[in-house]
Amino acid sequence: MKKILVTGALGQIGSELTGKLRGIYGVDNIIGTDIRKVDGIEDDGPFEVMDVTDAERLFDVAKKNEVDTIMHLAALLSAKAEAFPSVAWDINMGGLIHALEAAKELDLKFFTPSSIGAFGPSTPRDNTPQDTLQRPTTMYGVNKVAGELLCDYYYNRFGVDTRGLRFPGLISYVAPPGGGTTDYAVEIYYEAVSKNGYESYIAKGTYLDMMYMPDALNAIVQLMEANPDKLKTRNAFNVSAMSAQPEDFAKAIQKQIPDFKMTYKVDPIRQKIADSWPNSINTTAAVEEWGFKVEYDIDRMTADMLEKIRQKLP
Ligand code: SER
Repeated sequence: MKKILVTGALGQIGSELTGKLRGIYGVDNIIGTDIRKVDGIEDDGPFEVMDVTDAERLFDVAKKNEVDTIMHLAALLSAKAEAFPSVAWDINMGGLIHALEAAKELDLKFFTPSSIGAFGPSTPRDNTPQDTLQRPTTMYGVNKVAGELLCDYYYNRFGVDTRGLRFPGLISYVAPPGGGTTDYAVEIYYEAVSKNGYESYIAKGTYLDMMYMPDALNAIVQLMEANPDKLKTRNAFNVSAMSAQPEDFAKAIQKQIPDFKMTYKVDPIRQKIADSWPNSINTTAAVEEWGFKVEYDIDRMTADMLEKIRQKLP
């Protein structure tokens, strides 16, 4: 990887991945793109406004910039996709196939994230295997499973070097996720600092996999740099750092803020999505095939989140 096009560069992952890649591969070698622009974004490095549903534009931007890799991040998250299913289909699937076509035509390496959302109620819930039943009941999940299959198809049929990770809920203090089911695990830290309390829309006892963003970014780079001969799996590897229920976050926060209070007001839509996802996934394939590892457990992540949010909030 020498020159990389990032779609969704202003999104939850892209906001941090773009900067990390610029640090590794050089500022001018990372082309950030998104459907919108924020003032002064060009000061950080090359940036183009681009809509991933526009196949021609995506191809042109990739060709003009002579990239050798696409990291395709532009997508709607789970709760947003449930609210606007046909829009989600257009963006999540339309964007993906256009990006894959550009990768095929221009002979580019390709990364796109999948998700624990690619699993469904009939998937084994605990220690969910790498290869297992995937019958998701959300539009987001349908998009993710179809996306995994499509990426495998482009690899097997056209030889495109596609690689992917099934991310759990990603936690970060940089860009808010927006429209996901696991967003509560980010909001809780902001409200711990600003209000000393949080009303969780996910019920007590609901286990979901989670991961701190620095570990997620390292995993992307590591997977993309991995020797292709070692990869038996392609799209997409289970990765996770912790399996946690809302009260586990509350307990971790209380170690730093003893009077933090957690209350619950369950949102039935997001709870239903959470209930259809695994409690904990098995990451053995990622460990064995390219050495996946994480640095942050819930306590270390919590200490860092609270410190960074305190610096950030007025
Ligand atoms: N964090 C995502 C969501 O909640 C899961 O991939 O939608």
